[in-house]
Amino acid sequence: MTGRPHVLLSAAQSLDGYLDDAGSTRLLLSNEDDFAEVDRLRAEADAILVGAGTVRADNPRLLVRSAELRRERVAAGRPEQPVKVTVTSSGKLDPASRFFTVGDTEKLVYAPRGSADSLSAVATVVDVGSPPRLDRVLDDLGARGIRTLLVEGGGAVHTQFLDAGLADELRLAIAPIMVGDPRAPRFLGPGAFPRPLELTEVRRLGDVAVLRYRVAAEPSSLDLLRLRQAIDLADECPPSSTFRVGAVVGLPDGTVLATGHSGEGDPRNHAEEAALSKLDPHDPRLADATMYSSLEPCSDRASHPKSCTQLILETAIPRVVMAWREPSLFVEAEGVERLVAAGRRVIEVPALASEVRRANTHLPGVRP
Ligand SMILES: NC(=O)c1ccc[n+]([C@@H]2O[C@H](COP(=O)([O-])OP(=O)(O)OC[C@H]3O[C@@H](n4cnc5c(N)ncnc54)[C@H](OP(=O)(O)O)[C@@H]3O)[C@@H](O)[C@H]2O)c1
Ligand SMILES: [Zn+2]
Repeated sequence: MTGRPHVLLSAAQSLDGYLDDAGSTRLLLSNEDDFAEVDRLRAEADAILVGAGTVRADNPRLLVRSAELRRERVAAGRPEQPVKVTVTSSGKLDPASRFFTVGDTEKLVYAPRGSADSLSAVATVVDVGSPPRLDRVLDDLGARGIRTLLVEGGGAVHTQFLDAGLADELRLAIAPIMVGDPRAPRFLGPGAFPRPLELTEVRRLGDVAVLRYRVAAEPSSLDLLRLRQAIDLADECPPSSTFRVGAVVGLPDGTVLATGHSGEGDPRNHAEEAALSKLDPHDPRLADATMYSSLEPCSDRASHPKSCTQLILETAIPRVVMAWREPSLFVEAEGVERLVAAGRRVIEVPALASEVRRANTHLPGVRP
């Protein structure tokens, strides 16, 4: 299993939730500062996806505009432009669209077999079923080495990503404009939307409000089993004045690669560090592994040169599952933020946090 890319949805909407008006020209819902930020998000992405409806309605270029950002990409050894991706059931896309004609970058079209033959001269057409399933699109993108995907709409695509629980983050720019026309496309249509969102950022860019959300991930039953194992490992910690933590590094097939607990080996060792010290950081199996820790990995430490967050980021471990967010007793904890910013998936299981607190009531201010 190669991991699916981290999926960031980006949309600009009117105050009343529309992506556009019902007219033929695109309604401007953004300003220069917002465009510049979205350009940076494009530059950070390995690929950009829009629905076929957006290719038809807006004829977007989907390129990084800033020459400086393009240079940064090249200097980092990445292609100058992200890969362009679209999905269609009908295959009805004009090969003369700017999606295909502008920019010397790879173009991928996910379309049912036979529906998009006219596009095979201008793009790589990939069949992942009829209609194309977005989970299989993500699997295929992952297999092509795409680690980060920016989804820029439109409404049908955003709705499906959120409804299928396939998005990791959402950036929403809200313009002080009311469209007030039910014929206009909405940001989101009906859906079950199984995964709750957590607000991570609120900012103002001129008269545009920028909100950022993280999509809460669901732990699997294997995740819960391994996390409980990590919590139980904390019982083996020597009596200590700092956090009593357990950690397990495991694979989706059930293999446990390593375990650790605080104070193991060296009294100053943290649990994640103890577990990782038993593994080669370049072990290829880590690309599929999950780090289970009873506590949020630390982000700054007085006692050691490297934090556990940094040690995790020096491996390819794509997921971290944890029970309790580090309370700021000693230092301001930013483990989750740094892991997410680096494209790693973090799943919190607050339902198990009270067990971790119970193991740590020796610390000031910690109650079960
Ligand atoms: N404000 C913003 O941030 C923003 C951003 C983007 C777009 N927009 C606006 O949004 C509007 C377009 O939105 P939209 O909802 O109509 O279109 P959309 O989401 O861009 O595309 C919908 C189309 O994508 C294809 N599609 C979607 N999911 C698919 C799946 N799972 N498998 C296969 N094909 C799939 C289908 O194409 P086929 O019909 O070809 O099968 C479907 O009709 C435009 O007005 C545009 O201006 C606004
Ligand atoms: Zn640590």
